[in-house]
Amino acid sequence: MERVLNYSVYDCSIIKLSKHHSDRKGNLSVVENNKTIPFGIKRLYYLYDVPGGESRGGHAHKDLYQLIVAASGSFTVTLDDGSVKRTFLLNRPYQGLMVVPGIWRTLDDFSSGAVCMVLASEGYTENDYIRNYDDFMKFKKNDSSNG
Ligand code: TYD
Repeated sequence: MERVLNYSVYDCSIIKLSKHHSDRKGNLSVVENNKTIPFGIKRLYYLYDVPGGESRGGHAHKDLYQLIVAASGSFTVTLDDGSVKRTFLLNRPYQGLMVVPGIWRTLDDFSSGAVCMVLASEGYTENDYIRNYDDFMKFKKNDSSNG
């Protein structure tokens, strides 16, 4: 996918997933490539056993699109585009937070037993990460001058 410049936190939003309910047999939610979400999934990973009080994330991605789902339990995701921050509480398995590229994210307040499932548009590559906040701000400034 071509790099889109100048994404903001307002390009990130909660997507409501389908919830198929069977009487007394529980629920089922579905995510489909390019239908539920505007990208194709190449990778799925999940965070679990995160000790209370720990923080995850603390980085941005240059090109990666992600859908973050609290498959179990709850946690917060704080998004930062360099000028605006938004915090989302994820606590429903039938909701996903779409995070576009160029957004600094921090995950906090994991409940006990929380599972953070991430559906990602690309395979894992360390080159796609921006792990230093000053570098992130420089990246956003270059975005602005190019966009
Ligand atoms: P990282 O993305 O830094 O975790 P978080 O931001 O959630 O705190 O990844 C933690 C470690 O796992 C790091 O050593 C890289 C490795 N990793 C992979 O090997 N493949 C992956 O798909 C991901 C997401 C991480």
